[in-house]
Amino acid sequence: MDPFALYKISYGLYIVSSLKGDHLNGQIANTVTQVTAEPIQVTIALNKLNLTHDYVRESGVFSASILSQTAPMSLIGQFGFKTGRDINKFEGVAYRIGETGAPILTEHSVAFIEAEVVSELDVGTHTIFTGKVIDSQKLNDHEPMTYAYYHQIKGGKSPKNAPTYIKEESSEFGGEKYRCKVCGYTYDPKVGDPERGIAPGTSFSELPEDWKCPTCSAAKSEFGQCGKYKCKVCGYVYDPKAGDPDAGVSAGTPFIDVPDDWKCPICQAPKSEFEKEE
Ligand SMILES: Cc1cc2nc3c(=O)[nH]c(=O)nc-3n(C[C@H](O)[C@H](O)[C@H](O)COP(=O)(O)O)c2cc1C
Repeated sequence: MDPFALYKISYGLYIVSSLKGDHLNGQIANTVTQVTAEPIQVTIALNKLNLTHDYVRESGVFSASILSQTAPMSLIGQFGFKTGRDINKFEGVAYRIGETGAPILTEHSVAFIEAEVVSELDVGTHTIFTGKVIDSQKLNDHEPMTYAYYHQIKGGKSPKNAPTYIKEESSEFGGEKYRCKVCGYTYDPKVGDPERGIAPGTSFSELPEDWKCPTCSAAKSEFGQCGKYKCKVCGYVYDPKAGDPDAGVSAGTPFIDVPDDWKCPICQAPKSEFEKEE
């Protein structure tokens, strides 16, 4: 089975919210789907460990704010990588209370729906709640954020509680790549450098010391690691392929070249809290 085949399934990105008395909470979800038109019903799949799961089950209502492409990674970090058990997720977030009592984002959201739970299905780690939609509204004409956009443009990842989580997201890359700081050429161990007798599968450290950059002839010492780095605090993975465009770090920037004052886009931890991902 190829787990990357599942990456070909398309989703949107939402903040599903609910309440318990005066307490509000919400979480990122990619599993909001309209399943019937008459009546209009949607399903959401929520991890049983999530606080939002408990709020939806107990209150019988939820809202889904459809995120806009303008949504910053810090918002996704707040709602998708932290739990309402530790923080008040709506602090500092623009929202209003909907008809169901659940909060609705008024910024970085293109539209919302509100629903009353009509049934639930136990699917192991998650519960699928079916909700009858009782209100919905378009908020603006911005482009909605898709799951693919989140991954490909924003460089985002999915935590363990997401139904779409795939263990070891980096396995597609094989060995560690190194980038020439002089000309930008990337040495990929999967490809090697056959023109100079370097077979595919040769790691950078195995290259002869007199090996030179095939493009600009720079020495091996001019190369920097191109691998991914993981935040020890929240688990966010910096992927040089994606960079961090929100923070002005362009795609293709190796971790070593990321500015020293750069912070984790999810939890704001400093660069020193990152470690190389094996
Ligand atoms: C891109 C993305 C998609 C996610 N999709 C889901 C989902 O569909 N269902 C789910 O239960 N968790 C999903 N999660 C994980 C939850 O948002 C996360 O576990 C959150 O911290 C739960 O917060 P809570 O405990 O305050 O409810 C997703 C996270 C991200 C970043």
